[in-house]
Formats: sequence, C-alpha cells, structure tokens
Amino acid sequence: MAESFDVKLESKTYVPDPSYKEASNIGDYNEAYNHYLKDPDAFWEGMAQELTWFKPWDRLKEWSHPYAKWFVNGKTNITYNCLDRHVNSERKNKVALIWRGEEEEQERIFTYRQLHREVQRCANALKSLGIKKGDTVCIYMPLIPEHIVAMLACARIGAVHSIVYGGFGASALNTRIRDANAKVVITADVGYRRGKRVPLKTIVGDAVINAPSVEKIVVLRRTKPQLELVSEMEIDYHELLQNASKDCEAEVMDAEDPLFILYTSGTTGQPKGIVHTTGGYMVGTYYTSKYVFDMKENDVHWCTADPGWITGHSYIVYGPLAAGATVLITETTPDYPDPGIWWRIIEEFGVTIFYTAPTAIRMFMKVGEEWPNKSNLDTLRIIGSVGEPLNPEAFDWYHRVIGKSQCPILDTWWQTETGMHMITTMVGEPMKPGFAGRPIPGIQADVVDKEGNPVPPNVGGLLVLKEPWPSMMRTVHNNDERYRQYWETIPPYYTAGDLAVKDKDGYIMVLGRADDIIIVAGHNIGTAEVESALVSHEAVAEAAVIGKPDVLKGQAVKAFVILRLGYEPSEKLRNELIYHVRMGIGPIAMPSEIDFVPSLPKTRSGKIMRRVLKAQEMGIDPGDISTLEE
Ligand code: PRX
Repeated sequence: MAESFDVKLESKTYVPDPSYKEASNIGDYNEAYNHYLKDPDAFWEGMAQELTWFKPWDRLKEWSHPYAKWFVNGKTNITYNCLDRHVNSERKNKVALIWRGEEEEQERIFTYRQLHREVQRCANALKSLGIKKGDTVCIYMPLIPEHIVAMLACARIGAVHSIVYGGFGASALNTRIRDANAKVVITADVGYRRGKRVPLKTIVGDAVINAPSVEKIVVLRRTKPQLELVSEMEIDYHELLQNASKDCEAEVMDAEDPLFILYTSGTTGQPKGIVHTTGGYMVGTYYTSKYVFDMKENDVHWCTADPGWITGHSYIVYGPLAAGATVLITETTPDYPDPGIWWRIIEEFGVTIFYTAPTAIRMFMKVGEEWPNKSNLDTLRIIGSVGEPLNPEAFDWYHRVIGKSQCPILDTWWQTETGMHMITTMVGEPMKPGFAGRPIPGIQADVVDKEGNPVPPNVGGLLVLKEPWPSMMRTVHNNDERYRQYWETIPPYYTAGDLAVKDKDGYIMVLGRADDIIIVAGHNIGTAEVESALVSHEAVAEAAVIGKPDVLKGQAVKAFVILRLGYEPSEKLRNELIYHVRMGIGPIAMPSEIDFVPSLPKTRSGKIMRRVLKAQEMGIDPGDISTLEE
C-alpha cells in the first residue's frame, strides 16, 4: 500500500429538512459531539444508565493498551434489557417481532411478552441439554423467529452463541464449529430461498463429521412430511421446547462475560472469531439504535441483513430490542417472486426505518424505479446503508426513489470488530453522497499515514479509531496475537484495514480494503479462504484470487488457477471448480471467473502478488514491482 495518495473529491451536499434535526433524539451533531469530547466518560456512563443493571459498575473502564474492560464489575443480562425491561412496562403488549415468509400468507407476530415467554422456554430447553454459562452453541438457521429466539435464549443463560450464516457450506461451517468448540448446533431442516429449499440439516450433518465437540443437534422441522431424525445426536426443536419449563430467570452476567463469537474472513485461510462481551456491546448497540437510527416508540425497523452477520446481531436483534422497537424480519430475497416484494412489505407493515446494503440498492436501480413506485413508501422516515461504499449514483437514486427526496440516508461505516456504528452522517446533518460522514459522538476516527500522522484533507490514508469504545471486540477467539495486531499496527490506534480520505469538513469517504479481503455484495471474503478451497480440489496446484470491480456486487471473485500435471483446462473443469468452492464455502464466495494460467506473479520470497494480477486485469499501473521474482 502506498504511504498516502491524492484523491479527487467532489460532492454535492443534501441538506435535510430542519424538522428532522429538531425532532431527532441526538439533536445537533456538533453540540452532541462537543458534549461527548468534554467528558467522554460521563457520556458513556449516561448512556449505560438508560439501561438496567443488576449491579452498577465500579469503574467505567480499564484500558491497558490493547486490552479494555468496560463497566468494570457491573452485572446485567442483555436479554433482561431486550425483553424483561419492556415486559415490565407499558410496552408489554407492543409488537416486538414481525416475520414475513416467502409466501404472501406466511406471517407471524410476537409481542414483547410472547417473545419473552418463547425465549425463556428455549433457554430452559438448552439447559436441559446440559448447556451452561460459558458453553458455546452454534446457530445455523434460516431467517425465522426461532433464529432470534435461539440467540436470545443463549444470552439468557450465559451461553456464547456463534452464528454461522445459512449460506455457508459444510466446510466453512465445520471450521467455525471446531474453532468455537460448539457443544450444540441449532438448525432447521430447510431454509427457503427463491422458492427452493436449502437443505440446512444435511449440511450440518456433513459439517459435524470431524467436529468432536458437538454433542447434540437441535432441528426445527418445517416441511411436511417431516424429515426423519436419524442419528442419536438429533433432537426435535418443538419437542424439546414443549418439555421445557416456562420460567427462566436471566443469568447474572458480568459486563465482561462473552456474549458471542462471530466469524469474519481474514487475510489467512482461517476466519477470525471476533469475541464480543455483554455490557459494552449492549450499551453500544442500544446507543446507536436510539441515537443513530433515531428509534422512537412507533418505529417499525427493518434491517434486511441476516442475523448471521454482525449487522443482524446488532441491528436486527440486540440494539433495536434493547431500544424497545418493533423489528421486522423476512425470509424473502429482494427479487423473488419479483423485485417489488420489498416495497410491498414496507407498505404492508408501515416500515419507518429501512437499513440495507449498496449491492441491493444497485440491483434495484438496474431493474427500474417502476417497482418501488408501485408501492406507497410514505411511512419511511430514515433509510440506511451498510457493508461497502455507497457510490454517489446509488446514493442519489436511493435518496430520490426510496427516500422521496426527504429521508435522511445513514451511510454507516463499521465492522464486525467494532460491534456498532462508528462513522455516519447523523439524522438531520448535511449529507454528502459517497462519504459515510463523521465519527458519531463517542467515537474518535481519523485518516492517517503509516506512522499515524493525520493526512491533510483530500489525501488518502488508513482509517483508524483513536480511542477504545464500549462495543469493541475483546479478542480474536484462539488467536489473541491477531487481536493485538489491530491495535499494534499503528499504535496506539485501532487500524480498521480500510483506506479512506477526509474532506475539509471532516467527512470521511471509505475507499475500500487495504488488505486481501474482498467485499462481494457486502460480504467479506478472504482471498486466502477461496484459494485454499480451490487448492483442495485434486486438479489444482496453485491458485490466486482477486476482487474485480462489478457494477452490482461492488466486487466479484476472480481466480487464477495453475493446474496439476495431467489436467487440461476445460469449461467442465471450470464449472467443477466453481461448484467445489460453492459447496465448501458457500455461494457468496463462488468465483465468477476462473482463468487457467501457467504461472503466477510472486515475490522473491514466494508470496503471490495479487496486486499485480489485479493491475493486469484492470489495465492499470501495478505500482512498485521491485520485489517481483524474475
Ligand atoms: O471495508 C469496510 C466495509 O466492510 C468492512 C467490514 O465488514 P464486516 O465486518 O463484514 O461488517 C460489515 C457490516 C458492518 C469494513 O472494514 N464497510 C462496511 N460499511 C461500510 C464499508 N465500507 C464503506 N462504507 C460503509 N458504509
């Protein structure tokens, strides 16, 4: 990566109607930010005091670089704040969760009281399987209410959940189950995607071979006739819950007790198990739901992510429920049965806050505005984006067609590791398409060179966070060394791994990753993970993978493959390799192109220079190639 580089910045500015700012929970951004800067500790203490603690903390934080503890010795339970707190209030019969299946008539609604009951039963069911505080439970489920129930049930009893997105294949699931040492896997027989069944239970069956930690598999059966449960390990979800008692007090959790592990792709073949803890994560997701999303009593919040990603953890489940909102989830895909489905759902349920990804917005742009124009989207008041840069064209379209030139757009920059939003343009502030915005109150961010010196406006550099925050990850599971790297690359800052640039007003534009991670349709994919999946095929001697710009997905996976002796390039082999990656890691990592090549550009020490491949591919200057092998 170059030290720093010039970036041409031009942008128009959208100024939302002043009523947005006046009515917002946060008020004026500059005032709120200065208020935070004056006394950062008081800011976070005030936030935490909006929630219920069984025992208050002794000290706000202990920071011994790079390790942090927040709300030291404070005791709470996140589900107490997401459920009991509301059940003990006027929100008792408020709708907590609305689920919409793929078909028109499939709809389920849970009030806070009902969700509370369901979670307690599931929590007792897990206990009956011998799950105790500190044990790990893997959840591999479709987007149905029981997925959320299972997460909250784990948190209720202090079990650590590790959710694996239902689109991952058996080998990716196996790696994650083994690394997390999961005792139980909760799954369903199938998920539905575009009218087709995804055989989740079969994939789990393959994934647990070689995963000795797994004692039981709980299967929620949705299809008729019921899928038979064969092995002794398999238990029916409904039966298990029926036999469980209905009251389960929330376990008293220390603020620093782990809440979950969530895997994210790394630059090595091994994914990183990001560990989040109870108190800080709870405060961070609550704060950002209430003050960034501006959640109010009557909001219906729809985040289109899957709970298998951090976006789902933080902004489907923990944040919105802690804030007492009504949350919508759906098992639908954006274009099935047609690209009007999401807009009909917004109209039908009166969604007020809508949070999605640039890749979806670009897909909708492509199919045309006649689809959203068929529905009444007037209930929307705030729309958001996450996962990759929201390019100015997509911003303009989203603002005009979905936001009716009114709704503020929250382009939120954050990561699995940060747990909550870090940078965005707060509701009511002037918005600049292409720029995520400024750090939110509570967060200090900057763009710096490799030595940590701030770079001037319009000069690109590395995005860093300068101070610890409550919902920061605490470690990388089984790899604390990797955790330390985040804070020790440009000490004392946290290095996000993203390239960025700031303009004269302090607005930050995120340009993309500085490392070997590709973001495809908003999903992080490690080039190394795809390469090792390719090399595990008998025909492949060596492989290199790069991200290639793609109008819809942002980036697409392109692979270069050297075949073993005795194998010839062919269309059939190409398809076989694509299928091999699909089955191993999942459809999101599938290469869209594979080139068979005789050699790969390498450094003299033998490292593949993906940068050179990428430059060749795009017809641009590869930069410094002095280390390239002759
Ligand atoms: O490169 C940034 C990109 O997504 C990365 C984090 O990915 P993940 O941990 O999977 O979390 C995604 C959801 C929070 C970041 O390092 N990214 C995320 N949001 C944005 C973004 N890039 C530009 N603009 C964003 N709003």
